Amino acid sequence: MAIILGIESSCDDTSAAIIKDGVIGSNVVANQTVHEQYGGVVPELASRAHQQNIIPVVDQAIKRANITKEDISAIAFTRGPGLLGSLLVGTSFAKGFSTALNIPLIDINHLQAHVLAHFIKEDASDESHPAFPFLCLLVSGGNSQIIRVDDFNKMEIVGQTIDDAAGEAFDKCAKVMGLPYPGGPVVDKLATLGDSEKFRFNKPRIDGYDYSFSGLKTSFLYFLRDELKNDADFIEKNKEDLCASLQKTIIDILMDKLRKAAIDYDIREVAVAGGVSANSGLRQSFVDHAKQYGWNIHIPKFEYTTDNAAMVAIAGYYKYLAKDFCDKSVTPYARATI
Ligand code: KG4
Repeated sequence: MAIILGIESSCDDTSAAIIKDGVIGSNVVANQTVHEQYGGVVPELASRAHQQNIIPVVDQAIKRANITKEDISAIAFTRGPGLLGSLLVGTSFAKGFSTALNIPLIDINHLQAHVLAHFIKEDASDESHPAFPFLCLLVSGGNSQIIRVDDFNKMEIVGQTIDDAAGEAFDKCAKVMGLPYPGGPVVDKLATLGDSEKFRFNKPRIDGYDYSFSGLKTSFLYFLRDELKNDADFIEKNKEDLCASLQKTIIDILMDKLRKAAIDYDIREVAVAGGVSANSGLRQSFVDHAKQYGWNIHIPKFEYTTDNAAMVAIAGYYKYLAKDFCDKSVTPYARATI
């Protein structure tokens, strides 16, 4: 049996997971609440919190999977992209642990791991994973991409944002409305109570499959500034409708390009991944597209939408099968593509 320990420390979540022959054994995540008061992730505080969390989190992951550290076949860790100081903690830990246990080390691209989260099995009979080739909409706080996936290690970016990511659009517009950080989940919740047709915001006109969200953020800001001149309570009175209309606009922008890619590439196997894939409106839009366009859709469990080590471990499992290991001199990278 191949037992992979996954380590994830690219941003503000410290996570460790065990995957046994592709089946989830444990997935432990320590969230860092220290950043909330600053309205965003503070890199140095994130690195320090990873240092505090990493050993207890790995310990828990091993215990919950009912194994001992000697049972582990290989260690997979997120090499990048992400915050360098945060990545260094996970990378150094993985190197040290693999040296102590004398087992292979596997470096993982965080973006590929998000895509491969769809292959995590809940039990040995779970065959719900996407079939190759499929399209994956990867939407998070740092990314908005349409990825064509031909195999575990063969992925190609078909379209991507030229400025802000979808998660940033949610978070920045939420901030303008005075909502707490991160704004995405708050907007989602308020949107369920509002009218999504009440306000209209401009959608970008860009060729191909690329995205742009900075214009939406600016037009949202100017719209509120003008309305607030007439009524100082405008945001408070319209919060739900503003959230519903904003959310609909972001989802429409995402799905218009994804639908175009699905048609042009003639692919109906379609997945979504990343933090924004937790959004209830986006999930519903996937269900609607499945009905209307005959898509076979793949929506991750909530625990695999945000940063987690289970996705790192499953990506590591497939690299382990391919004997694709890395050297102990490997260093993390802050920026990378797929
Ligand atoms: O993948 P992720 O955990 O990490 C980063 O890339 O940073 O994504 C976090 C992003 C944040 O922008 C957050 O606001 C957004 O995902 N997000 C959501 C929802 N849950 C998380 N956006 C909209 N609706 C949600 N329910």
